[in-house]
Amino acid sequence: MTETNVDSILGKLVVDKNLCTDNEVQQCLDVMQNLARQGKPHSLSDALLAQGYVTPSQLKRLQETIEEARPSHRIPGYQMLEKLGAGAMAVVFKARQLSLDREVAIKVLPRRLSENREYVERFYKEGRAAARLNHNNIVQAIDVGEASGYHYFVMEYVKGTTVYDRLSRGEIYSEKEALDIIIQIADALGHAHERGLIHRDVKPKNIMITENGIAKLADMGLAREAADQVAAQMEAGRAYGTPYYISPEQIRGELDIDFRADIYSLGATFYHMVTGKVPFEAPTPSAVMHKHLKEILVPPDHINSALSVGVAEVIEVMMAKKRSDRYGSIKMLMEDWKAVQEGSPPLQAHQKLDAHVLVDLEKGGAERDQEQETASESDSGKLGLKMAIIILSGALVIAFLVIIILLNKSPIT
Ligand SMILES: Nc1ncnc2c1ncn2[C@@H]1O[C@H](COP(=O)(O)OP(=O)(O)OP(=O)(O)O)[C@@H](O)[C@H]1O
Ligand SMILES: [Mg+2]
Repeated sequence: MTETNVDSILGKLVVDKNLCTDNEVQQCLDVMQNLARQGKPHSLSDALLAQGYVTPSQLKRLQETIEEARPSHRIPGYQMLEKLGAGAMAVVFKARQLSLDREVAIKVLPRRLSENREYVERFYKEGRAAARLNHNNIVQAIDVGEASGYHYFVMEYVKGTTVYDRLSRGEIYSEKEALDIIIQIADALGHAHERGLIHRDVKPKNIMITENGIAKLADMGLAREAADQVAAQMEAGRAYGTPYYISPEQIRGELDIDFRADIYSLGATFYHMVTGKVPFEAPTPSAVMHKHLKEILVPPDHINSALSVGVAEVIEVMMAKKRSDRYGSIKMLMEDWKAVQEGSPPLQAHQKLDAHVLVDLEKGGAERDQEQETASESDSGKLGLKMAIIILSGALVIAFLVIIILLNKSPIT
């Protein structure tokens, strides 16, 4: 952690603890700036002490509080440098791996997860599997471990931004730019899938772009907290994010999630990149999930008319609700992406769409036959009822006549 970070945390803490006001902290910062200009750099602790805002023993306690709150920067073998970001699940720090003298990124799990035995087991298992992968488009997993009761995941440090950063500024990607990124990520997924690893959380926040424009898939091998459905609902409950990219089968909580879940999420990510909109938008996370399950996708070229028909078709097949209607492998998907890149039609998507139409036709025909059968069944049912009513009415009339005749015949007393 840098001096600047320690200072900003200390600045907040002294105000929170009513030891001084925002203005007084600002005064200290001004003093520090003046001293720095004179070549005499001071930390905020020095300035607070010099101004008499805190006593040495108060300062010691404050420093202990900061230290306790950041046990993660005491991971043996690493020197913590600065916080890179935080997501729903963890905090990511930039650090120096001392043995190899290189920069790495370390994701530190919160205590809540570190205390969950079942999760920690999965965390190590998947971490080890991810460390065996080696691909230029996957953020390399380096190490997993535990220090001071916190579990951590060490990975390659990527200097760059995420796809989410750009989308959140309201910028969209041209078809060509998006294709270039998605093809790299699809290649990374193909590599992982062949080795039995499913990502399960492909989304713009997990795609990093290096300064040289190389796309890298992050969080590969980072076990999710629980079954996907539970995790999604927990995220939703905690307002940590909305499941905009999750596949229908993950929402349903199916257990045999396979590579096609990643294909769906990659399709949803592509959709967002080229249209500026997530595929399904709704006021609550559960309404978004409901739409993934039930609502027909608005074709991306209806939102951005500059998109080619080919791209729209590929996305449609990637995001089919039923996974058997999606691509059967990343290889088939890549064939289509390459074709679209060259301006040719996506043949694999056409085959899938044609097959889908045939099945629909067959289903439609069968349904119509069934409807006719049901209709004729109900027609004959109605006829039977009519006949029964006629026979019954006839019988009643006859019975009535017989009674009258008998009454006429009997002597009146
Ligand atoms: N290997 C890395 N190199 C550099 N920065 C990273 C790396 N991994 C993550 N980051 C940064 O840390 C931030 C937090 O990452 P994290 O995976 O914890 O959450 P997220 O993916 O952004 O969101 P969520 O938790 O909602 O999935 C990222 O947005 C990114 O800016
Ligand atoms: Mg992430």
